[in-house]
Amino acid sequence: MFNFDFYNPTRILFGQGRVADIDKHIPPHAKVLVLYGGGSVKATGTLKEVLTALNQRQVLEFGGIEPNPSYETLMQAVDIVKTQQIDFLLAVGGGSVIDGTKFVAAASVYDGDARDILKTRGTVIKKALPFGSVLTLSATGSEMNNGGVVTQKSTQTKSAFFSVHTFPQFSVLDPTKTYTLPTRQIANGVVDAFVHITEQYLTYPVNALVQDRFAEGLLLSLIEIGEQALHHPQDYDTRANLMWIATLALNGLIGAGVPQDWSTHMIGHELTALYGIDHARTLAIVLPAMLSVRKEAKQDKLLQFAQRVWQINEGTEQQKIALAIAKTREFFERLGVDTSLSAYNISAEHIDNIINQLQNHKMTALGEKREVNLDVCRQVLTQCL
Ligand code: NZQ
Ligand code: ZN
Repeated sequence: MFNFDFYNPTRILFGQGRVADIDKHIPPHAKVLVLYGGGSVKATGTLKEVLTALNQRQVLEFGGIEPNPSYETLMQAVDIVKTQQIDFLLAVGGGSVIDGTKFVAAASVYDGDARDILKTRGTVIKKALPFGSVLTLSATGSEMNNGGVVTQKSTQTKSAFFSVHTFPQFSVLDPTKTYTLPTRQIANGVVDAFVHITEQYLTYPVNALVQDRFAEGLLLSLIEIGEQALHHPQDYDTRANLMWIATLALNGLIGAGVPQDWSTHMIGHELTALYGIDHARTLAIVLPAMLSVRKEAKQDKLLQFAQRVWQINEGTEQQKIALAIAKTREFFERLGVDTSLSAYNISAEHIDNIINQLQNHKMTALGEKREVNLDVCRQVLTQCL
């Protein structure tokens, strides 16, 4: 196992009816900016519940954070924070709203050009405003991690940033808040969490017994409840399990002390920035092809995945690996998530464009061993067709 630091200060307020408890975790005299997306929180009543829980505090609202939040929109919120002397932020929404709020928290107190935060992947962040979140979509894990992803529309650049200062102070995880999600977003959430786990698990063995078993437990649980979550929107236990699985998939626990890949995500980010495909849907396209192109480098873990997650015990090693990848693809397809570029009308002539963007964004040495160069990306994208 590698050396590691594990630090996660986010308080989780889990369960039905927990929105009311935010009152205990925000300073009583704070001036609060509540940030949200395109309006689902108004339609579902969650925003009203949040405003009631905020009690007598001075509260301003900032709506309109789009899926794949943009730098351009978020800078408008930064302006409000500065001019209105806001001292606490509250994100109410999915990963996009929480990521956007992290950016606003850091950019509002940053002295230079806020784009530095994106250019440096967050290393320039030395402080941030305190913030909490009320989660309405199980997928990204943003509610309990310190990362965010923001898109600069002008250059079609989707950049991730991280900082010890951008953990939420608290996150409310009330599974009933996800009852109103369209099935497409539920399916996206299952796929995103699945691929967060594989990016930290399907690398090479370092004898990290419990990280492997945690990852396998999360994958098995997702496979068990993924379709149920689609078909039984008001089943509390299913939604509760999905919510906690997605949080644990990317809160640092399973990734501590093990190699990590993230190449599927980096290629996926380019597909979202160029063609507007939902984040999780890009991952469903790239992951099966990535595993197949890199099956030698990942052989030991792919065999472990085949045996422990998909219960494949027959056949040669190569057959087991091929079947495990096929079963992963079938799982995504059963959730209604397509696994090829052609499903989005993207064909061979678009590949150069994607490769150019990877190069522009310096994504030229990806993967757990930095061996996913542009040639490997091209092979992967060709297999995605
Ligand atoms: O904008 P509103 O009106 O709220 O509607 C949203 C949005 O259209 C809707 N929605 C959310 N909760 C709902 C709801 N509709 C009905 N009922 C509810 N309860 O769902 C749509 C998608 O929301 P979004 O927040 O964009 O989805 P998600 O949580 O999947 O977040 C995706 C973003 O997170 C980033 C992605 O790149 C993408 O930008 N990621 C962040 C990560 C992190 N911070 O650690 C890791 C991930 O790998 C990912 O990259
Ligand atoms: Zn993701």
